[in-house]
Amino acid sequence: MKKILLAVGLVALSGPSFAAGDAAAGKAKAAICSSCHGANGVGIAGIFPNLSGQKAEYLLIQLKAFKDGSRSSGNSAQMVGMVAALSDQDMADLAAYYESLDAAK
Ligand code: HEC
Repeated sequence: MKKILLAVGLVALSGPSFAAGDAAAGKAKAAICSSCHGANGVGIAGIFPNLSGQKAEYLLIQLKAFKDGSRSSGNSAQMVGMVAALSDQDMADLAAYYESLDAAK
């Protein structure tokens, strides 16, 4: 709870232009993602990529690409609905969260 309050506080302090992701805030937003990408960021089946430990910058670029339609190959259609309602801050937080996970755990 303290971590969540701290995360909310940091986001509030930094204002709307805050671009860096917050892993604690991302964790709170990742519940739906785990149904495909796993509770620990390791995909539950072969078509679902592992996100655990991946670079946040890369993950954020992919999320934005799903949202703006520039990434549409493979099974991307499954991601389009997932990112539709996410803000830039949500995507940055999710990217920071998955980077923070250790695939070995
Ligand atoms: C219904 C299943 C499903 C859900 C739920 C889902 N994803 Fe995905 N996700 C996929 C699939 C399938 C791909 C691979 C797309 C492709 O083939 O290009 C993917 C790819 C990605 C990628 C790109 C990974 C890479 O290595 O390039 C990211 C990042 C990602 N998802 C994040 C998320 C986040 C964050 C959420 C929650 C908001 C989420 N996904 C929810 C199915 C899902």
